[in-house]
Amino acid sequence: EGSDKPPGNKWSFSGPFGKFDRGALQRGLKVYKEVCANCHGLSYVAFRNLGEPGGPGYSVAQVAAFASDYKIKDGPNDAGDMFERPGRAADYFPSPFPNEQAARAANGGAAPPDLSLITKARSYGRGFPWFIFDFFTQYQEQGPDYVAAVLQGFEEKVPEGVTIPEGSYFNRYFPGHAIKMPKPLSDGQVTYDDGSPTTVAQYSKDVTTFLMWTAEPHMEARKRLGFQVFVFLIIFALLMYFTKKKVWADSH
Ligand code: HEM
Repeated sequence: EGSDKPPGNKWSFSGPFGKFDRGALQRGLKVYKEVCANCHGLSYVAFRNLGEPGGPGYSVAQVAAFASDYKIKDGPNDAGDMFERPGRAADYFPSPFPNEQAARAANGGAAPPDLSLITKARSYGRGFPWFIFDFFTQYQEQGPDYVAAVLQGFEEKVPEGVTIPEGSYFNRYFPGHAIKMPKPLSDGQVTYDDGSPTTVAQYSKDVTTFLMWTAEPHMEARKRLGFQVFVFLIIFALLMYFTKKKVWADSH
């Protein structure tokens, strides 16, 4: 049942001062839109989120243009009919399948999970009692390291002693090695207009960065506030210390 340990990455968002790389978020959104969205939903993300601070950094006009590329099911209208209309900023990313049965039927029995929270959902920690130290170690990076590894973990040659059932594919990092997702990415598949390499490795890191943002859109604000709290506590502790010295100056 084992699988290989995902290799670590240098993520711009890791650590107490980590931020999302805007370029990676924009490229990752493109990879999601052109590749992953064929099978995976992103149902907790609204188009308007793409223009919020701490995210891919699009303007209101860019968000509106992006949203209008999508056909959104709406209705019923006054005549009682369902209809389709172009997307607006307030709409959420539409899901590729109408329901889970349809998603399973199209994918050999395995429904592609919604990707909104996947980088958090695949973060496993280290169990009792070591989870105490996860705060200081690479806990935050486990989920993204795993997602990036799965995307790059497809291999044509199945290692000796491993059998992959019909309709599954060998993946070095997926638990049990047999995954029902076909290799989604190949070199040159998605065009980039900022000169970044159009490789599976780059696509994987970009779309994973994007999916880290969808899972934690307010990460930058959270880390900023955390830092401010630390600064306040240090100043406050000094203030209390000198106050105490003064108030108790004459006592023995
Ligand atoms: C599973 C990501 C494209 C079909 C998954 C998982 C992730 C993922 C993280 C979960 C693995 C796990 O459970 O630990 C992505 C990304 C894509 C992409 C980032 C785009 C780059 C696709 C495409 C298809 C697809 C295009 C359909 C042709 C599936 C299916 C599963 C899955 C069926 C369930 C696999 C199983 O449980 O055996 N994907 N995926 N994915 N994906 Fe994708």
